[in-house]
Amino acid sequence: MQTPLHDLVIPQVCKAAFYEKTRAPADVDSVQFLDVPVIQPLEGQVIVKMRYSSLNPVDWKLMSGAPPGWGHDLPFVLGYDVAGTVVALGEGVTHLRVGHEVFGVNWGDGSHKVEGGPSGGCFKEYATMSAKVLSLRPPELWAVKAAAVSLAGTTAYQAVAQHMDVKKKDKVLILGGSGAVGQLAIQMAKELGAWVATTCSSRTADFVKKIAQPDLIIDYNEQNWYKMQELDNLDSIFATFGDITTFQHAEYKLKDEGRYVSNSDCDAPVALIPKDKHLKYHAFFCLSNNTEHQDVLANLIVGGKLNQVICEEFPFTEAGVKCIIEKQLSNTSMGKNVIKFD
Ligand SMILES: NC(=O)c1ccc[n+]([C@@H]2O[C@H](COP(=O)([O-])OP(=O)(O)OC[C@H]3O[C@@H](n4cnc5c(N)ncnc54)[C@H](OP(=O)(O)O)[C@@H]3O)[C@@H](O)[C@H]2O)c1
Repeated sequence: MQTPLHDLVIPQVCKAAFYEKTRAPADVDSVQFLDVPVIQPLEGQVIVKMRYSSLNPVDWKLMSGAPPGWGHDLPFVLGYDVAGTVVALGEGVTHLRVGHEVFGVNWGDGSHKVEGGPSGGCFKEYATMSAKVLSLRPPELWAVKAAAVSLAGTTAYQAVAQHMDVKKKDKVLILGGSGAVGQLAIQMAKELGAWVATTCSSRTADFVKKIAQPDLIIDYNEQNWYKMQELDNLDSIFATFGDITTFQHAEYKLKDEGRYVSNSDCDAPVALIPKDKHLKYHAFFCLSNNTEHQDVLANLIVGGKLNQVICEEFPFTEAGVKCIIEKQLSNTSMGKNVIKFD
């Protein structure tokens, strides 16, 4: 899908939402909303006129200075999810043209660092990024859905299809089924033919049931999943939320050669556990940008096999950016909060 070229005039400056200092806990007052220069694309980069982006936990975690060791240059422009129009190409970009509608997650290969960077930076009217992170957006995939699914969906897909290697009739537990990643992971595991149990609060249980249709929902405030006999002999567990004890409990619920996958930072020490466990796989992982996986997500959504629910749409204004962060931090969301540019 292409936008008429005469609509693609690039200004010298544009609005961006960024912070100059990290502050714990994350504080919307540290966000500035100002005119900044549009950055000319270097080799391998493009400028995208943004249509939609969305907010992910990593945004407010980095604002608060966490996770430790994830140093990033300041000032830092928020936002990783991209849906927009290519308006300028740097040297050597061959798979995209000016006018192409694109989507993706501006993230690196298992790390925050994008080759030919920078990462993030999508809460900006004209965002300059590596062309490598972008997929063509099929016209049937709405821009709002594309922006909502990219980071969370890539994470869910890599967990379910790669690290958990979910197969038909597998017995699977997904901790945190109401989060953006969890909802998508349940749907993907069900689509692969697995039996899926999940945890969430009573606030979100009906929502999760309707959207993702897991086989068993456990209210984590009422029951300890690791004490439930129904959850013995699991093939795999995906901890999208957990604490430092999650892996210790998980180990005893998984069958021999089972798989434990975590994307929650408090479980990062799982990487230090010796590999001589009875499990086939146990690791903390960080998503890797992968345009093929983005294309899979697009096909699943267009084919009606994956539903990314939008919770609320916020305008790209100073108030809109502050409100989306407050909304996310208030733990009242169900589905994805998105930012709409003009
Ligand atoms: N490593 C990676 O590559 C990677 C990638 C993406 C995300 N992540 C991380 O994965 C986590 C989930 O991300 P997300 O985008 O899915 O988050 P999200 O959409 O912001 O999830 C929010 C929902 O999670 C639920 N929740 C909160 N605490 C919970 C708990 N202890 N157990 C179960 N559910 C809980 C809450 O609903 P309830 O009312 O149901 O509790 C809340 O509405 C975040 O920590 C994020 O930073 C990591």
